[in-house]
Amino acid sequence: MSKIFVDACLGKKTPYTPVWMMRQAGRYLPEYMEVRSQAGDFLSLCKDYEKACEVSLQPVDILGVDAAIMFSDILVVPLEMGMDLKFVKGEGPVFSDPIQSMADVEKLDINKAAENLQYVYDTIKAIRGKLAADVALIGFCGAPWTLATYMIEGHGTKTYAKVKKIIYSNPELMHALLKKTTEALKLYLENQIKSGADVIMIFDSWAAALEESAYFEFSWNYIKEITHFLKSKYPQTPLIVFPKGISGYLDKIDGDFDVFGVDWSTPMELAKEKLGDKYVLQGNMEPTRLYDKKAIDEGIEKITAVMKNERHIFNLGHGILPDVPVENAQYFIKSVQEKTKF
Ligand code: CP3
Repeated sequence: MSKIFVDACLGKKTPYTPVWMMRQAGRYLPEYMEVRSQAGDFLSLCKDYEKACEVSLQPVDILGVDAAIMFSDILVVPLEMGMDLKFVKGEGPVFSDPIQSMADVEKLDINKAAENLQYVYDTIKAIRGKLAADVALIGFCGAPWTLATYMIEGHGTKTYAKVKKIIYSNPELMHALLKKTTEALKLYLENQIKSGADVIMIFDSWAAALEESAYFEFSWNYIKEITHFLKSKYPQTPLIVFPKGISGYLDKIDGDFDVFGVDWSTPMELAKEKLGDKYVLQGNMEPTRLYDKKAIDEGIEKITAVMKNERHIFNLGHGILPDVPVENAQYFIKSVQEKTKF
């Protein structure tokens, strides 16, 4: 059975513009909070494929989105490469043993990671087994650069001081880390596709931390390498990239992928002008518009006026926030599906 989301990723005409939301499986849903409290902590939920499957399906059942995204986190890859990860309340993710030297990079184990991530593959199989045949399943990973920021800083950062110091003072170390992470991600994403992921998305959430030349050298080149590898082996699987906050660099974006995820700070007109002929565009409603129905209506109209229901997948321009009323999220999804109908 054809999937409207997959068709739209490949640039085919669809009966309406498909829609989903980044971070759609999460804390704004009381049903998610319930399963998460049963699981204990966040990582235990990621590792329990039955519960991870259950929360992945919640937004499909509750909101009627056109795609499910597997429930996991980008940071399980460095975790399974051998790093010590904890999610600390009020602080977010913390690695107690950040990468500081070539010896630290050498300790990371690519093959062990691809193998230890079996719980993710099991989650995908479980979701695919329960998901309606016309709803797509998105697998994902973090871009090597975004993962490396956490692996070197040890936690979220405002300045990126440690990781940028390495970029400029010890680029060999940075490239060694990025190369190894890239290899692990290739195996990981290939296994996700083999397990039943219909579409793959690469999140480069911290792309905007880098100046243009550094962005292409330390991030985009590695994303391109991953998408080229996947496309050469799995040409039918659509690939989405999401480099957040790089509207100034769009002229230089190229590579082997299908969909470019536009963040909320990038005007859709600009993305369409620079990339719309080559790639399907995904995005990009300001996530905080979800607090107000009138703001949702205006956001949908603004984007629809530019995209005209062509070569477009509706989404937020970044993740949904935890205190958004579920009713408003439902309203957003339903309104897009109704207003973009032919
Ligand atoms: O619905 C989905 O999108 C599926 C699952 C998903 C999660 N994280 C679950 C999660 C996805 C795709 C991610 C990606 C992710 N994780 C990114 C890239 C996307 C983006 O938003 O830019 C990043 C940078 C991370 C790293 C990460 N994970 C952080 C910084 C945090 C803490 C932030 C916070 O809101 O507390 C997490 C935890 C996390 N990942 C949660 C969820 C649902 C919250 C955990 C909880 O308290 O239940």
